Amino acid sequence: MIPAAAPHRVILVGLPGSGKSTVGRQLGRRLGLPFNDSDHVIEQRIGCSIRDYFEREGEAAFRDVEESVIRELTQGPSCVLASGGGAVLRPANRQCLRDAGHVIYLRSSPEEVFRRLRHDRNRPLLQVTDPLGRLRSLYEERDPLYRETAHFVIETGRPSVSRLVNMVLMQLELAAVIPARP
Ligand code: S3P
Repeated sequence: MIPAAAPHRVILVGLPGSGKSTVGRQLGRRLGLPFNDSDHVIEQRIGCSIRDYFEREGEAAFRDVEESVIRELTQGPSCVLASGGGAVLRPANRQCLRDAGHVIYLRSSPEEVFRRLRHDRNRPLLQVTDPLGRLRSLYEERDPLYRETAHFVIETGRPSVSRLVNMVLMQLELAAVIPARP
């Protein structure tokens, strides 16, 4: 459990498919905090899938909704928050996320992400003829932005979700954000 006096949010950033939602959900359970997924909140708000919204309204309109959802979630109650992979593109979001809690960058290489997402049909940015090439350019553009936003970087590699969760917890313990486990 996060003690009441400690800051109340743990925020995950990283490429699509880096494990933000799966790790975030378990982390929430372990910390006794509710879990929020900004993509999920966005889909509730727009009333359709992100992929459909991208097709209909375009990326800029999606980023506007994302910005307002990020603002609300980072001002709302304590939680573990998984942010969308492109949330760091806007400086206002980077600032909001960094100020709102402990930000963890789950760093995955484009090749690892490609392995996990090669059959994915939901992520609009990856519905292209060369998804690996797209992931490489997303990584080039975003890795510095994830680093700028995050307080900690965790290399995801290929460990299990529970090992990743433990790595995050250990990092939070080392930084004295949560008490050391016996
Ligand atoms: C996006 C990542 C997605 C989602 C949208 C755009 C991106 O979130 O917000 O499809 O720009 O990388 P995940 O990182 O949860 O897949």
